[in-house]
Amino acid sequence: MNVNAAPVPSALQAFTAPDTAFADWLAAGRQLVESELDRRLPPAGLQPAVLHEAMRYATLNGGKRLRGILALAVCESLGKDPARALLPAAALEAFHAYTLVHDDLPCMDDDDLRRGKPATHIRYGEANALLAGDALLTLACQWMAEAVTPLPHPPGALVLELTRAGGSTGVIGGQTEDLAAEDLPPDEARLLYIHTEKTARLIACACRVGAVAAGACAAKVDTFGEYGRHLGLAFQILDDILDATQATAILGKPAGSDAENHKLTTVSLWGLDKSRDEAQRHTDLAIAHLEKAQCNPGRLQALTRHLLSRIN
Ligand code: IPE
Ligand code: IPE
Ligand code: MG
Ligand code: MG
Ligand code: MG
Repeated sequence: MNVNAAPVPSALQAFTAPDTAFADWLAAGRQLVESELDRRLPPAGLQPAVLHEAMRYATLNGGKRLRGILALAVCESLGKDPARALLPAAALEAFHAYTLVHDDLPCMDDDDLRRGKPATHIRYGEANALLAGDALLTLACQWMAEAVTPLPHPPGALVLELTRAGGSTGVIGGQTEDLAAEDLPPDEARLLYIHTEKTARLIACACRVGAVAAGACAAKVDTFGEYGRHLGLAFQILDDILDATQATAILGKPAGSDAENHKLTTVSLWGLDKSRDEAQRHTDLAIAHLEKAQCNPGRLQALTRHLLSRIN
């Protein structure tokens, strides 16, 4: 780890150059987020070593880096240097990694595999996984507080974005209803609540954070939030579809976990065809909101469409 390293200049260049091919642009975004995480996370040998190792394992273990890339891409779409959103992007991914560590625990979804590797509790034990998740959540809030928050936003605006999205009326509320619904009759309103809060909230938050980091006005931040909400709903519908249709080796997490846990998902409620239609509908709505945002939408449009055809 190099604590003082600047953001990878070639990746930043590839991410901002208009002629970079989409796949290279995506890879550059991933590299930017990953190098920021690597240099900001406490070193593995720092006491308590097992905790810092587990935090790094849970975070630097692959993943699409969607939430981090969205923050960078929204900032860039508003004509601002995406480096302004780099620390918030790392915070979003640390927060996301915490939710995944806890989501996989035996008391939650009880999944042994994450991002193609043993889940954090399999590798480090349940107590260390719980604590690593706790520490990643705390660190994510610290990074949001340390990031520069440009005018017109007050200091603390970035932290508030994350904590409002992440708490009992956001991600944790969604996770609570997700677990409760395992034993309840299927219900469309409950499913919408679950998808909105457990997944779309953080994806919307990532888009809002990118706009805040760019210094956009409150109305524009809200427009990007609506874009992110629909993108997030399409994303979770795809996650449900892939759980039911894709192989474990491609998913990097156990296929069929939702059926095994009697989860309320779009697939269990609607079947595959209607689920695909709904994913398309939310993708179209996301793009419609993007068009209202008075930004340079090309990369975000391409990313939004790309997510609809993802295989993991
Ligand atoms: C998995 O998110 C959890 C959901 C909200 C569906 P991702 O599919 O973004 O997971 P990674 O970060 O790419 O591993
Ligand atoms: C998890 O949803 C959402 C959060 C972690 C907040 P899922 O349980 O569907 O995610 P996967 O399928 O395990 O990645
Ligand atoms: Mg879950
Ligand atoms: Mg799960
Ligand atoms: Mg899932």
